[in-house]
Order: sequence, then C-alpha cells, then structure tokens
Amino acid sequence: MRSAGNKMNPVTPYNNTESKKEQVAQMFDNIAFRYDFLNSLLSLGIHKGWRKKCIKLISDKQPKTILDVATGTGDFAIAAMKLNPDKIVGVDISEGMMKFGREKLQKLQLEKIITLQYGDAETCDLPENSMDAITVGFGVRNFENLEKGLTNMLRILKPGGQLCVLEFSSPRQFPVKQFYKFHFKYITPTLGKLFSKDSRAYTYLPESIKAFPDNERFTSILDKVGYTKSSFRSVGFGLAAIYLAEK
Ligand SMILES: C[S@@+](CC[C@H](N)C(=O)[O-])C[C@H]1O[C@@H](n2cnc3c(N)ncnc32)[C@H](O)[C@@H]1O
Repeated sequence: MRSAGNKMNPVTPYNNTESKKEQVAQMFDNIAFRYDFLNSLLSLGIHKGWRKKCIKLISDKQPKTILDVATGTGDFAIAAMKLNPDKIVGVDISEGMMKFGREKLQKLQLEKIITLQYGDAETCDLPENSMDAITVGFGVRNFENLEKGLTNMLRILKPGGQLCVLEFSSPRQFPVKQFYKFHFKYITPTLGKLFSKDSRAYTYLPESIKAFPDNERFTSILDKVGYTKSSFRSVGFGLAAIYLAEK
C-alpha cells in the first residue's frame, strides 16, 4: 500500500527520481493558469463555503497576524480578510500559483494587507511566535514531510495561536463514497486533462487523498508534534475535514 508518510514510496505527481517537493511545485506551476477555474468546476463551488467555515471557526480569537501556508492563488488568504486582520502573509513553493494570486490581490486592492512570498512550509524561517493564526487549505497533503511542516508552523505560531487546516478526506458513507469514487475515476481526470493539459495532476489528486492520514490519524499527528486541543469536523459529507489545533 502506498502511503503519504512512507518516504520510500510516497505518492508523487510524476516520478520516483525527483523529490516530491520539486514535483509538486512543478505540477502546480503547470496547472496554475486553470487552478481556480477547475477548483470551482470540479467541486461546483463547494470549496468556497468550506474556507468560509474555517474562517468563522477561528474568528473568536480575532487574529491580527495570519500566515496562510500553501497559499497557491491566495483564496484562503482573501477569505481571511473577513477577520479584519492587520497583516496576512501567504507562502507557497509554486511561483506560478502565486503569480495568479498576486493578480487577484491587485484587482481587489488587497496588496497592502496580503503579501505572497516564496516559502516552504517545512523550512521557511518566519520568526518564532510571530503569527496569531495559521491557515492551510488543501496543502498539507502535498507536503513532502508532513511532520516537519507541522512542526515548523508550530514554531511560527504565537502561544495560544490557532492552526486551521482544511484538507480533503476519503468519504466513508454510502452514497457519497460511491459518488466520490465515480467522480475521481471518470470526471476529475477527464476534465482535469482537458482543461489543465496536465494529465497526471488530476489522477495524483485522488491518489494523494487516499494516502493522506485523515481525521483521527491527522489529529494524532498534530498531538504528536506538540499542538494542543486538536480536533476535526467533517464537511461536505466527509469529502473534506477542518482541523483545529492550538499552540
Ligand atoms: C491545492 S493547492 C491549494 C491552494 C490554496 N491554499 C487553496 O485553498 O486553494 C496546494 C498548494 O500547496 C503548495 N505546497 C505544496 N507543498 C508545499 C510546501 N511544502 N510549502 C508551501 N507550499 C506548498 C502547492 O505549491 C500548491 O500551491
């Protein structure tokens, strides 16, 4: 069985020779021009509501400094504007994705508050105890070393600060499980290949979801690396989950 945590044989986008990180950055650079469009098409827009729910869940503590890891085209960072923060920093390893994100920020005139910069979740050297909240949308599944990424984010969080992770999970219940299997076997790869021109990106997606340690398995990793109060709630009938934890 392939596992996201198995360094000998991780699920990677293209091959077993380059690192997962290089391949993930390459894949997102390739599909960046269609990422937002395909996200909305394949999910029928549901992902927007999930990000909104995340933002609502971290609103109690009124975070003023927010780090959006694996920011991509910046949708989570833009959704976090609802919290009326002083500053949002988005980091990502795909310059291609952030190029489209920066264009959106310019159109929305949000560049004074949101900045997108190159940064790897596992190694970025943002100051210790510097962020009130960290968000990660559909990013952790793609990390090369999940625990290293989570540990570095814990370092950056202020004591009492919150981590909010939104990630796909494998649905377990009839008929969502059956619909999901059909969608990922036939619809996702066909539309993904047609519109993004990267035939592998949208077969990597279900494989990486299958290999991802979701639900309780993810909260036990959060506990293991040192977070407190870790919890999760399923959204979209088990298609995704929102994980919350504190430093
Ligand atoms: C599916 S996109 C999600 C984008 C955005 N967060 C959203 O909600 O739409 C995943 C992003 O994770 C980024 N990524 C993967 N591994 C990363 C890492 N180690 N550090 C930072 N970003 C990473 C990819 O480059 C890609 O832009």
